[in-house]
Amino acid sequence: MIMESKSPIVKHLVNRLRDAHCDAFTFRWLLKETAKQLLTECAEALPMSERKVPTWQGNYVGSFVDESKIVCVSILRAALPMQEGVMETLGEIEGGFLAMKRDEETHESRLYYDRIPDPKGKTVLLVDPMVATGGSLHDALELLLAREPEKIVTLNVIGAKEGVEKIAAAFPDVTVHIAQIDPVLNKDAYIVPGLGDAGDRAFNTP
Ligand code: URA
Repeated sequence: MIMESKSPIVKHLVNRLRDAHCDAFTFRWLLKETAKQLLTECAEALPMSERKVPTWQGNYVGSFVDESKIVCVSILRAALPMQEGVMETLGEIEGGFLAMKRDEETHESRLYYDRIPDPKGKTVLLVDPMVATGGSLHDALELLLAREPEKIVTLNVIGAKEGVEKIAAAFPDVTVHIAQIDPVLNKDAYIVPGLGDAGDRAFNTP
């Protein structure tokens, strides 16, 4: 299922990211803030539990996000600021990492590093800012689904229509929570208009 954000705040943050003059520090901050907004938008999918809190007026039983049942997985490296945003809000969830390298000729992704806590029975928040062909997200979802999570929600910033639709068709039980969908990919599989290479822009890589 594709859930494209309707939030004016998310539009504002993403359209600031598109600005080619946005410096790396601001770029990372905008990715982080966008992830926090998307987290709030998808929050109904999160597991909840009741907990007793000792307040100044005695014990109070309140609802909390059950952080012990959530894993936030980032696809290196552009997703790191998004993961930081999610884990600032939900400080005790588990974090996992996947590293994939895109072959610049075939545009296919290849997994070369995987460090993920066991997601079995848990809710996985898979963060990745750009969904171009959908190749790396597809591989990440296959890998994660094989480990039997309760559910997976992806948080993405900009996707090309064809990539996002490919993911939704291949994984009907996954919710793709995305800020904005752009119309096309160019011949190098960059999203147009998109924002260029998000990893390079976030980490000042020439
Ligand atoms: N990855 C990016 O960072 N940008 C794109 O446009 C496509 C893939």
